[in-house]
Amino acid sequence: MTQDELKQAVAQAAADYVAQNAPAGSIIGVGTGSTANFFIDALAPLKDRYQGAVASSEATRQRLESHGITVLDLNDVADIPVYVDGADEIDAGLNMIKGGGGALTREKIVAAVAKTFVCIADGSKLVEVMGKFPLPVEVIPMASAHVARELLKLGGTPVLRAGFVTDNGNLILDVKDLAITDPKGLEAQINQITGVVTNGLFALRPANVLLLGTAEGVKSIV
Ligand code: A5P
Repeated sequence: MTQDELKQAVAQAAADYVAQNAPAGSIIGVGTGSTANFFIDALAPLKDRYQGAVASSEATRQRLESHGITVLDLNDVADIPVYVDGADEIDAGLNMIKGGGGALTREKIVAAVAKTFVCIADGSKLVEVMGKFPLPVEVIPMASAHVARELLKLGGTPVLRAGFVTDNGNLILDVKDLAITDPKGLEAQINQITGVVTNGLFALRPANVLLLGTAEGVKSIV
């Protein structure tokens, strides 16, 4: 199977999971990225079952709306039973690195509201120790040099993502050379640096379920 076929398989499995676990009339949280895009396509035929969706990025909002799915403002929503999103890396504890697409802050906000986080990923995303994928850190523009110096002190090598501005008007530092043996601790530590909006570690709020695409089929890991 190709990587795209694996992504499509987990996206369909997530749509099935949502159909079984999110009550009719509820609001679905939707992530960002190529795997999340396949999920949006799989969700579309079921759209009349739900009140609508909350989007974790402008790109996702546009794709949802192109399918005729109502997109709600998170401030008007108190209850999201299921949030579905991809990951750049995920470990056995269901901690993740996210933000390869730059949507980490809104993803983390929607995930904070959601009851259940379902991560959808092809098998290449499952790792023993996270950090091979550079960790995205969203920063307030005037603080980028300060934050970069602080990240160097933590042993990382921050690289400004060239020509990229987040949906929130901020910049991204991609931090290489981190072996992330304490994901919760590092997530908290980086978020303490003044000027950081948030970082792409999702360990304090990990996924609850991983739907992993493999050659043997979709594996559900909790
Ligand atoms: C978006 O900012 C990211 O967090 C994505 O969810 C993550 O990068 C996974 O993307 P793909 O499904 O495209 O690999």
